[in-house]
Amino acid sequence: MHYTEPMLKPEALKGKTIIITGGGTGLGKSMTRYFLTLGANVVISSRKLEVLQKTADELQQETGGKVLAVQCDVRNYLEVEKMLESTLQTFGGVDVLVNNAAGNFISPTERLSPKAFDVIVDIVLRGSYNCTLALGKHWIKNKQTNKAVLSIVTTYAWTGSAYVVPSACAKAGVLAMTRSLAVEWAKYGIRMNAIAPGPFPTKGAWDRLVPGNFKERFDLVKQVPLRRAGEHQELSNLAAYLVSDYSSYINGEVVTIDGGEWLQGAGEFNLFDDVTPEEWDLVEKMVRGAKSE
Ligand code: HXC
Ligand code: NAP
Repeated sequence: MHYTEPMLKPEALKGKTIIITGGGTGLGKSMTRYFLTLGANVVISSRKLEVLQKTADELQQETGGKVLAVQCDVRNYLEVEKMLESTLQTFGGVDVLVNNAAGNFISPTERLSPKAFDVIVDIVLRGSYNCTLALGKHWIKNKQTNKAVLSIVTTYAWTGSAYVVPSACAKAGVLAMTRSLAVEWAKYGIRMNAIAPGPFPTKGAWDRLVPGNFKERFDLVKQVPLRRAGEHQELSNLAAYLVSDYSSYINGEVVTIDGGEWLQGAGEFNLFDDVTPEEWDLVEKMVRGAKSE
């Protein structure tokens, strides 16, 4: 057994139809691949139809599963409704929404134009509530139960982070929505959960957050206590579990998968990590000495 291996039983998602926003690239593509191998039908959507179609063709061939590629800008509610209609026409129903689409780039906040702030918040927060609202209305109106929404947030949804302020504001909003609706919509049989990943290298994120040789200068892995980046299969395993019926009693949860990264910065004395055993001998001597004075 290894953490890069698929975790769930084959057919764990059989019969489910899953919409993944931003499913054509990065983590969305990895989740799509795994959900297909577990027997789900997957609808992938984003702004670039060509990218989506290429991913759909590749993954259908690889897994033998069914993928529908739908162009949809999640900022636009009418487009989201159309995506839902296409899903219903093709698969007859929908069971799971994964709010994965995002926009982000690194920048000092005072350099942002109002439009730059808007564009991130609109993709992440408005996009997530547009999709959640459209799907929720559909499920509730048709009295359909055993449904799930999973949102991909980040750990700075609760810590905040310098230089990605619009993204931090928006992800915090998505987390608040998740926890609020977990209670409000539980009576309709809709579960709401989130995943907060640490660094999982993708082209989309890395090119915008640590571009060029900043990758070496600010090696994100160095701030992870486990000293490695996440593997896409690890995140896909967790996501598959959280949208499957195995997690039927998990509702309103945000599961962090970051190798301990966010806590590394939080603990007062975590910076003592690089003290050598010899130095610890010295520290002990000094501290014991202080006690006896
Ligand atoms: C300052 C910038 C900028 C930059 C764009 N803008 N890039 N301002 N610094 N680097 C400004 C523009 O000048 C413009 O404002 C406004 O933002 C909108 O830019 P457009 O290029 O017109 O927008 P658009 O074509 O819609 O592109 C959206 C985008 C782009 C968000 C800017 O990066 C994108 O398409 N991203 C999608 C994928 C993505 O971001 N993936 C990464 C997710 S990673 P003005 O006023 O000049 O018109 C993630 C990980 C989190 O979330 C945690 C990691 C550990
Ligand atoms: P990515 O490959 O850039 O994925 C983002 C996706 O969002 C793209 O497929 C993009 O497709 C889509 N998108 C952007 N704007 C959209 C819009 N208006 N409407 C519809 N789709 C839109 O980056 P990623 O790293 O895989 O990120 C996936 C998720 O994980 C995001 O929510 C991100 O915040 C989260 N996350 C990632 C990391 C990490 O280390 N990678 C860490 C924490 C959280 P189009 O351009 O075709 O629209």
